[in-house]
Amino acid sequence: MLNRIAILFVGLAVALPGIQLAASPRADAPVSRMIWRGQIEAGGPEMNFTGTVQEVVAQIRQIKPDFPAGLKTTMPLPNKDDGHEVQCGVGGSGTADVSYINDGISYLHGIPGNCVVGAGNPGTCARISCSYNSGIWLCSENGQEVLWPCSALGDIAENDCFTCQGGSGGNNNWCRGREKWPANNFHVDVGEDSC
Ligand SMILES: *[C@@H]1O[C@H](CO)[C@@H](O)[C@H](O)[C@H]1NC(C)=O
Repeated sequence: MLNRIAILFVGLAVALPGIQLAASPRADAPVSRMIWRGQIEAGGPEMNFTGTVQEVVAQIRQIKPDFPAGLKTTMPLPNKDDGHEVQCGVGGSGTADVSYINDGISYLHGIPGNCVVGAGNPGTCARISCSYNSGIWLCSENGQEVLWPCSALGDIAENDCFTCQGGSGGNNNWCRGREKWPANNFHVDVGEDSC
């Protein structure tokens, strides 16, 4: 129920001109909504849904309660040799809780189809996952549409968070970082957000 209320509020904020979503990965990054594009059943048409992966799964389950049953979720990564690099300490408004980032990664690994940032300004980011103030973003660096299998973005977020972990008393319980894929003009951020 709380989830559905949250979706309604997000939908409302986007629908009403002049009302901006408060959360953004950094002050200079325009934020757009993530588009999920894929089949919700084997052999079915390709469909678009918008929101974080958690919101998209909730929306699809309104229509198809057993989603993603019967659909393949294993998808290839972008070419690992494209010189991707991780920059720690940037992304979101601060550090995120590793266990909730892992939760978001599980959602990304579990959903078939593609996660998309529509064409916009260079630096436009879409929040692809958020739970308990822990966000994952997909950002276009050149303003062109960015489309990757959500499960591949889960792998990237996992590496990003793992590479940039920290914590006290020997516990790596937070992470914050940016994994850049320069040859493909996108990056994935993990960090704090409000949700
Ligand atoms: C999904 O979005 C793409 C890109 O905007 C569009 O080409 C396609 O027709 C859309 N599919 C549906 C079913 O609306």
